[in-house]
Amino acid sequence: MRIIFVTGGAGFIGSAFVRLILEETSDVKVINFDALTYAGNLENLKGLDPSRHEFVHGDIADRKAVFEALPENADAIFNFAAESHVDRSIESADEFLRTNVLGTQVLLDAARYKKVKRFIQISTDEVMGSLPEDDKSFFTEQSPLRPNSPYAASKASAELIVRAARKTFGLDTIITRCGNNYGPRQFPEKLIPLMIANAMNDEPLPVYGDGKNVRDWIYVEDHCRAIWEIYEKGRSGEIYNIGARNERQNIEVVKSILDILGKPYSLIRFVQDRPGHDRRYAIDPTKVETEIGWKPKVKWEEGLRRTIQWYQENQDWVERIRNGSYREYYRRLYGSRLGL
Ligand code: NAD
Ligand code: DAU
Repeated sequence: MRIIFVTGGAGFIGSAFVRLILEETSDVKVINFDALTYAGNLENLKGLDPSRHEFVHGDIADRKAVFEALPENADAIFNFAAESHVDRSIESADEFLRTNVLGTQVLLDAARYKKVKRFIQISTDEVMGSLPEDDKSFFTEQSPLRPNSPYAASKASAELIVRAARKTFGLDTIITRCGNNYGPRQFPEKLIPLMIANAMNDEPLPVYGDGKNVRDWIYVEDHCRAIWEIYEKGRSGEIYNIGARNERQNIEVVKSILDILGKPYSLIRFVQDRPGHDRRYAIDPTKVETEIGWKPKVKWEEGLRRTIQWYQENQDWVERIRNGSYREYYRRLYGSRLGL
């Protein structure tokens, strides 16, 4: 059995990754290490085979907890754990630095000490900043680090300490940078699930600014499969950008959701913009396509339909979140924007 240590595996992408790996391999055991912050949810892990999946409740910035949970000679660490929402990082950046930077350093130290064979850092296209909207430029692996939000700056910092661990200590590391993920179980603070949940409840849909910011969307399972293939075939020390060549303006995304749900465009409200709002993200995935042989499988129209269907069928999952501390967050962030 290969043993992999997955951090943040109770969150949106981490849980999709764990589920996919358990389904598609037979020789992998997962140790899933997660602090269960507001974004971590044990419901996301229901039904997993306990003989191949062990959940450990712990914080990646807690050195003792990480050293206790990480087995000697583990095959890999996949570091998904992070504070991941840009708007929250604008409200307060402390937790972003603690988890995303210090937490990554603790994991790198533990990886070195425990002789972990490979360290995969799950990063983001946001570390490369924003592209002009009206040209055909793309993010490549050579694009400079130009983060614009506290979240993106914390993820860029994490990349630098991963790089340093490789250069200084010879740790086998790879960094992956993906664009915007969508799919089942995404916390409803992010654009797509927030709009689905609000539309299902006939509540206003808050679109920032002019709604013409562009994001490059990928179905979550396609991202997870890319990470696994990069782990198996990728070259140590390399960065791999992951994207599905699927640029969309936010307003187009929101209208598509309303169309699928059969709800009126009159629910849309253009509200005060996000400070420092990146205009456009667009990834050139040539390297992962040619060197690894990965290609996305799920088309946008199909992925969005599947996602909406999941939220329709799991309204109790959404409502449990919307009735908890999310309510207070929503009021803080959207109260004055929407006149609530
Ligand atoms: P998420 O917010 O849904 O989940 C984050 C998970 O990390 C949660 O389960 C949370 O409990 C856990 N966590 C947070 N702090 C922790 C800590 N100190 N110790 C242990 N666990 C902790 O995030 P996501 O959207 O699933 O993103 C996962 C990773 O992928 C992040 O590193 C993010 O930067 C990266 N990423 C996300 C996207 C996207 O579109 N969502 C795109 C590219 C990269
Ligand atoms: O690109 C990868 C990144 O994508 C990840 O690293 C982040 O973890 C993830 O959160 C995401 O960042 P974004 O800021 O692009 O995602 P978000 O869903 O917050 O917003 C997507 C776009 O929609 C962005 O242009 C802001 C806009 N938006 C968002 C919200 C929540 C709105 O117009 N209204 C909203 O209420």
